[in-house]
Amino acid sequence: LDRQGYCLIEERLSGEEFLELGTALGTIVRDEAIRLFESARRVHRPERIELHTDPPHVDVVAWHSIIEGEPPVPSEILALAEVLAELGDVDLEPLARVEMTYPDPVDETERAAPLLSRSGDQMKFFCIPWYAGALPDLEAATAWNRFLEALERARRAKTIRLDLHAGQALLLNNRTHLHGRAAVPPASKRFLRRLWIANREIAGLPER
Ligand SMILES: [Fe+2]
Repeated sequence: LDRQGYCLIEERLSGEEFLELGTALGTIVRDEAIRLFESARRVHRPERIELHTDPPHVDVVAWHSIIEGEPPVPSEILALAEVLAELGDVDLEPLARVEMTYPDPVDETERAAPLLSRSGDQMKFFCIPWYAGALPDLEAATAWNRFLEALERARRAKTIRLDLHAGQALLLNNRTHLHGRAAVPPASKRFLRRLWIANREIAGLPER
């Protein structure tokens, strides 16, 4: 996770082994079943989910595929470093004024966090494009548009696609990588167990 930012565990894990792994990676802050049902939350709806990060307090996301015999839905992963490379040598500071306003998954209250924050010698991106709030000034609006264009170029050229088969687990560094998935057939019984893990020791993006 420090080096590559994600890891597909191809060996089949039991539920206990998966939980043990999650516990070893940090503090589990949420343990949730991801499947399709009538819900306002995108994660439970069949439509494609574009690249995004999970909430800012989450450092590692772990998914475990549970259902046998369901064709896997490709998971998509993109390194934020690829987006920054596409963005080139521009001033990142205006991105700190772009806020994402999102419903807290636990209590549904509205929360806000900036696209870019810094702590110590690391940068952190919290990016859910469809939750971008009002832009405070022209400079921030221009920087956000440029960011979205860079994201689109990087998405087309550098997205990694992985299939998660029954029993397998996928781990992702939420500080360095975006994720999304293809559309799910509406009748799919796809069932993942997802852990949100907090661990500030996991390497983020180096300051620039
Ligand atoms: Fe997500």
